Amino acid sequence: MSVTLKFIGHATFVVDADGTKIVIDPFFAPDNPAAPADATPDSVDADFIIVSHGHGDHIAHAVEIAKRTGAMVISNFEIVSWLANQGVEKTHPLHIGGGNSFPFGRVKLTIAHHGSGLPDGSYGGNPAGILINFNDGTDVYFAGDTALTYDMRLIGEAGGVDVAALPIGDNFTMGPDDAVIAAQFVKAKQVIPIHYNTWPYIEQDPQAFARKLQEETGIECRILAPGESLTV
Ligand code: NI
Ligand code: MN
Repeated sequence: MSVTLKFIGHATFVVDADGTKIVIDPFFAPDNPAAPADATPDSVDADFIIVSHGHGDHIAHAVEIAKRTGAMVISNFEIVSWLANQGVEKTHPLHIGGGNSFPFGRVKLTIAHHGSGLPDGSYGGNPAGILINFNDGTDVYFAGDTALTYDMRLIGEAGGVDVAALPIGDNFTMGPDDAVIAAQFVKAKQVIPIHYNTWPYIEQDPQAFARKLQEETGIECRILAPGESLTV
């Protein structure tokens, strides 16, 4: 039993959990400037798609991939309603604080401080982080787009996580200094920095973040280049 997290770039992951493919925040090439050129939406296998919030750099290819693969899309109620109106057949609505067990594990939406407007201006509900307790015992926290929030301590107090994917880009989300605090709040064993260097507004040095994280907390930073994977 293992969980492999393949980083596509920006905030997008393709997770393989014992053969089940779960796509997090599907934003692929060429729209995603950080993604490898061959990581196009039609290259992706998906059984499930999980969307953290309505912004275009997170929901980007959800409709296209869901329609082609028949994947079930998991997101907040407002977003899955919007997706259903666009012809996505299999959806599961959640909302912040609530979770549900799926064949690969339990998914819970957590608090994120951000926006969630959909690309056409529709209301996208509240943005969320995504906490997954995989069946093999691996716990992964995808923070989504968010400020540092004191509520992240609740995740740490509940036992922490094996891996936290945390934004470090600053400007639209927390930056490196706040991500170091977030890593401690959620009691992460390993941190994957995300949501940086996609555009000029969010340029950051992930090596500098990794050093600061190691020096101040002892927590391991796993910098993944787009296309690279981490197996937990
Ligand atoms: Ni956003
Ligand atoms: Mn974003």
